[in-house]
Amino acid sequence: MAADPFAPPMELCRPVPRNDHAQAHVPEDRRGAGGAGGTDGETAGGAATTAAGTATADGEDGGSDTAIVAGTAPGFRPFEMKEGGELVGFDVDLLEAVIEQAEGYTLSGWQEFEFSSLIPALTSEKIDTIAAAMTINDERDETIDFTDPYYSANQSVLVREGGEFSPSSLADLSGQVVGAQTGTTGEGVVQDQLINRSELAESNYNSYGNYVLAVEDLVNGNIDAIVIDEPVAATFASDRQVDVAFTYETGEEYGFGIRDGASDLQSALDSGLEAVREAGTYEDLTKKWFEQDG
Ligand code: ARG
Repeated sequence: MAADPFAPPMELCRPVPRNDHAQAHVPEDRRGAGGAGGTDGETAGGAATTAAGTATADGEDGGSDTAIVAGTAPGFRPFEMKEGGELVGFDVDLLEAVIEQAEGYTLSGWQEFEFSSLIPALTSEKIDTIAAAMTINDERDETIDFTDPYYSANQSVLVREGGEFSPSSLADLSGQVVGAQTGTTGEGVVQDQLINRSELAESNYNSYGNYVLAVEDLVNGNIDAIVIDEPVAATFASDRQVDVAFTYETGEEYGFGIRDGASDLQSALDSGLEAVREAGTYEDLTKKWFEQDG
């Protein structure tokens, strides 16, 4: 199960380099600039930056690697979330593994933002890459670039567990109060398929900085349904009082976001991703994060 959604593209077998453990330099203006403190509902504090520990420098070329900063938006289990104050998840592990295989780059740390602030953080150079289960789409492609896709997903509709409301299509959401995270493709589905078609009044749509808050509102009865990426809906269904009512096919693919024209970083991450698939690390990570019981 949970087979790699993309076939391994080609043979590329490089050993994991044993690197020197040199401390990467984090530019002062990149520290503590995150903006999502306390909003993900999984962390009490407002800590914005998670140190990546000792970043590695390439021993072969005397540490001339470029240290990059990654941005994410926790509260999106199992892709990114806070556990005991620590940023963890599939995206965190995957990007770290990819950068380890990416020639010429090291990771100097992570910064946390609300999802809708990630692209502005990237374009304003607070971060250099986005690892946030971000769907590759044309609208975003106008502003930023993406690596090759690394995960596929559709949208699901969450409802209260044991409630009377059990929709089976988007049209059934008409007249209900619907929630999604600001700036997501889930919000796009509500906008395009419901509000723009006059199936849902604008006032019946609640936009949240984080899906954790939306799920709390759903459990509390303040809203009736949530549109959210299927794998994350499944996780909420397994650990909160919510159920997946149905899934709406969108055929989305997640990629790591990079600045427009950052072609060196793009090809380094693309070959890093390929190497991670080839080495079996990708499969190990899907097992680690998507096949947990409970
Ligand atoms: N895949 C969706 C999108 O790209 C939702 C991503 C939300 N990610 C997050 N880390 N909160 O819009």
